[in-house]
Amino acid sequence: MNAAPDSPPDHAELDYPQLLDTAMAAARREAGRGHVAGYIPALASEDPEAFGMALATVDGEVFGVGDWERPFSVQSISKLFSLALVLAAGGDGLWSGVGREPSGTPFNSLVQLETEHGIPRNPFINAGALVVTDRLQSLTGDAAAHVLDFLRTEAGNPAIAVDAAVAASEAEHGHRNAALAHFIASHGNLHNEVDDVLREYFAHCSIAASCRDLALAGRFLARHGLRADGSRMLSRSEAKRINAVMLTCGTYDAAGEFAFRVGLPAKSGVGGGVLAVLPGRAALCAWSPALDRAGNSVAAVAALDAFTTASGLSVF
Ligand code: DON
Repeated sequence: MNAAPDSPPDHAELDYPQLLDTAMAAARREAGRGHVAGYIPALASEDPEAFGMALATVDGEVFGVGDWERPFSVQSISKLFSLALVLAAGGDGLWSGVGREPSGTPFNSLVQLETEHGIPRNPFINAGALVVTDRLQSLTGDAAAHVLDFLRTEAGNPAIAVDAAVAASEAEHGHRNAALAHFIASHGNLHNEVDDVLREYFAHCSIAASCRDLALAGRFLARHGLRADGSRMLSRSEAKRINAVMLTCGTYDAAGEFAFRVGLPAKSGVGGGVLAVLPGRAALCAWSPALDRAGNSVAAVAALDAFTTASGLSVF
């Protein structure tokens, strides 16, 4: 019997290389829009018009266009991996120290913490990610090394590394993150020294990885919690929960607009990357350094928008 005309296409029917070309063409039309993140000086020298995109299927095929193998600063995309590692280590108690509601405020905002007793709204704003890093530090003793190791293993790329110059630049200009961490600590919601939490947080944000690396490393969310080697990292329910928080909070104050345009769980970073998940099918990463006012890459969002529009694939 034929499938209903509006049922989702099979892998075999999808021409991923052509869809990526369509996405890149849409990204190129955004050239000149947005601004490279300037508040971390080491990121400011990136070419605003660079673009790359990769797609890794659940069964291990990888496709890419543009600068898809060029490493860039993953920044807040790392928050997704630190969250997954805490939950995988059984850190379900995390949810008493961080919420899962969109903040409706910029990613580095301080205002809600005061009235909400030092409990950040969600794990993807900076305040929430500091709490997640703190818990990963308690569980492992070296939080950033665990994020790095996970990326290297899932991507099969031992060359992925922390960019020490970016980490130093973040630390030097990190007054806001330091303020957030001290405020959270004043409410008893950090279990490690503030300086240790900040060091680990800056280190995992400063990992340099490519679209290819990130698409491969994000596949566990498309595989409902299974790692590349087939071992179970998260339960199906935990993977669903991370995808849900990505959809509602992963692109900050623009998560509604992103869901409206793209319709996929995703996590962005101020390095210009956006990692998105097609549950049951693939993980995708698009990258271009020029950002909109919310801190999301203008061209990467346009590319993902074009991809889901042309393919008819989204979670809706
Ligand atoms: O803490 C910061 O400000 C950066 N390390 C990460 C911010 C970020 O990527 C926000 N993303 N859009």
